[in-house]
Amino acid sequence: MKISILGGGGFLGRKLAARLASKGTLGGNEVTALALFDVVEPPKPTGARFPVTALAGDVVELPEAAIPPGTDVVFHLAAVVSAQAEADYDLGRRVNLRGTDAVVDACRRLVTAGGKPPRVVFTSSVASFSATQTDTLPDDARQVPGNSYGAQKAAAELILADASRRGFLDAVSIRLPTVIVRPGRPNKAASSFFSAIVREPLLGLDTELPVGDDFAAWVCSPRRAVDWLLHAAAMDTTTMGLDRSVNPPGISTTIAHLLQALDEIQPGASRHVQRVEDKAIAAIVGTWPPAFETLHARTLGFAMHEPLVDVIRAFIEDDLAATRTERGLSG
Ligand SMILES: NC(=O)c1ccc[n+]([C@@H]2O[C@H](COP(=O)([O-])OP(=O)(O)OC[C@H]3O[C@@H](n4cnc5c(N)ncnc54)[C@H](O)[C@@H]3O)[C@@H](O)[C@H]2O)c1
Repeated sequence: MKISILGGGGFLGRKLAARLASKGTLGGNEVTALALFDVVEPPKPTGARFPVTALAGDVVELPEAAIPPGTDVVFHLAAVVSAQAEADYDLGRRVNLRGTDAVVDACRRLVTAGGKPPRVVFTSSVASFSATQTDTLPDDARQVPGNSYGAQKAAAELILADASRRGFLDAVSIRLPTVIVRPGRPNKAASSFFSAIVREPLLGLDTELPVGDDFAAWVCSPRRAVDWLLHAAAMDTTTMGLDRSVNPPGISTTIAHLLQALDEIQPGASRHVQRVEDKAIAAIVGTWPPAFETLHARTLGFAMHEPLVDVIRAFIEDDLAATRTERGLSG
């Protein structure tokens, strides 16, 4: 299988590349080549038994080598994330919409040249919906985004579904929950604090919480997000019909429950969380639904979520030491 990861240098792109390198297969088929593409040349995963190419460029001007002839699966993760897309309308619209157009055009060229339509796994977002804090959204809930990023993701889903209908590609769009715990440093996602309130205390650092303790959110772990991406890449899409989008089975949690899970693993760690209201962040995340029904995704075989304490343990196992090193912190 020939695979491309657009946004291959990002948080989930690196995790996905590392998993493919360690497994060597996708859906039971051997991986034969992996192309990684990002604004800055992405690092290659260690231990891959197949050739890996790493390319730098702009997804809007997608070079042929990013999705070369014979590509079976494209993971389209390249994006300008939530708070940045809200702060810079032109950049978000360009990358999140025009970038998706470029993916469609690249796949279409492969098909026109006689190739088969590649599976395109697209990372949409919970931010493409809006809801109140007490809602649980059904599988057929309408996407009415409360921010530009969510609108761009919803529009990209429609463009990919239509391109699937036309036979240019074979899309599965996963509306990812907020993925926690993100390693490294805080980023420009409005949801950055969800990770920060676990990661920073585990590093012994103070961090700010911009919303109340009773704030509810829909989250998932990076391990489970990668499981879902791989499942979406290999599953049978014939039963999906025209609707190529799924709400995967995440976890609904409040900030209080997340901090309780943190204290269970490291007693007293939540004392590092300072309550500092931020109305701009609260306005963005306040429109994101805190829970979904997810029956459709479970029927399609998407894995159920692990408990919150396991999400935090996985961060400690997978990323805490590397985050310490990257940030020059002593153990
Ligand atoms: N992490 C989450 O909580 C979350 C939740 C829902 C959806 N998503 C979606 O999942 C995907 C991956 O998220 P992530 O957390 O890894 O984000 P990330 O910001 O770490 O990765 C996105 C990557 O896209 C790249 N990119 C941006 N503009 C580009 C351009 N013009 N050309 C090429 N590459 C470009 C960035 O450099 C970055 O490496 C994104 O599409 C994001 O919108 C993430």
